[in-house]
Amino acid sequence: MDTTVQVIDSPDRLKSFRDDVFEGLSREQKELPCKYFYDDRGSELFNTICGLDEYYPTRTETALLQAHGREMADLIGPGVCLIEFGCGSLLKTRLLLDALRSPAAFVPIDISADHLLQSAAALAADYPNLEVLPVVADFTRPVKLPDKARKASENRIGFFPGSTIGNFDHAGAADFLATVADMVGGGGALLIGVDLKKDEDILVRAYDDAQGVTAAFNRNVLERINRELGGCFDIETFRHRALYNGAEGRIEMHLVSEKDQTVTVHDRDFTFTEGETIHTEDSYKYHVEEFSSFAAGAGFRSARTWVDGDGLFSLHYLTLG
Ligand code: TRP
Repeated sequence: MDTTVQVIDSPDRLKSFRDDVFEGLSREQKELPCKYFYDDRGSELFNTICGLDEYYPTRTETALLQAHGREMADLIGPGVCLIEFGCGSLLKTRLLLDALRSPAAFVPIDISADHLLQSAAALAADYPNLEVLPVVADFTRPVKLPDKARKASENRIGFFPGSTIGNFDHAGAADFLATVADMVGGGGALLIGVDLKKDEDILVRAYDDAQGVTAAFNRNVLERINRELGGCFDIETFRHRALYNGAEGRIEMHLVSEKDQTVTVHDRDFTFTEGETIHTEDSYKYHVEEFSSFAAGAGFRSARTWVDGDGLFSLHYLTLG
């Protein structure tokens, strides 16, 4: 790869982290933006979550890609430019690339430069005929594609696995789909993983596992505030809670204060009453048809959907006219 990116832990990054934390903890319902989960420790915990018995999405989506990759490849066609929004382990990407016929280019987009460039380089080494063109950017905003990607292929296919779409609220998800539609353009398509509405117990267990890995993942955001912003959270006094909000169709993750307390972050004090929560993340769930009509709002037509035998998880292939 000929891309060199210098990553500096800038005062700006810390300032916006602090501003976001101050703002979120000042609300009536305290909250923290979920993007701050993913420091090195958070990403490591998240990888562990993906392998847990209770956390069915990763293995179910992987199995769908394995079972139906050929059919997906037939629909997608040869010589495409694959654009992935967010860059995880790239295991699912490899399954898809292996099924595709002579893919021309792969553009992974991620905000975390270190992780992105390492994963992209490893993938490029294994796919010598593929033009791998990582872009360091926040994929929730429109991203300009590298010229080389445009040259490599006119057929652009978005890939958004992991049900990350569920971590947007409905307005955010609609904006994101519109942004993707713009990027892939007419004749383009999107292959997207969407977690399904189901029995509440199964859902809650997926976000509150017996070993407490998800609890550690949730509480890690407080440790990060302590470490990076000079916070004084007594981590032990905040308990992880996952609940299913049926009216909103979403899993909510909270951190519950187990006592009345005041927590100082940098130079500001925040008071908590016993039982008060910090809302840290949502994960919206959809019915298959609910998601198809939602995507239609951004101009996508549902060309094909795959669901596992237990009705746990869906992959949608959406096309633009
Ligand atoms: N998007 C996935 C989901 O909502 C992964 C995920 C994001 C997640 N944050 C999480 C999983 C927190 C467990 C806990 O399921």
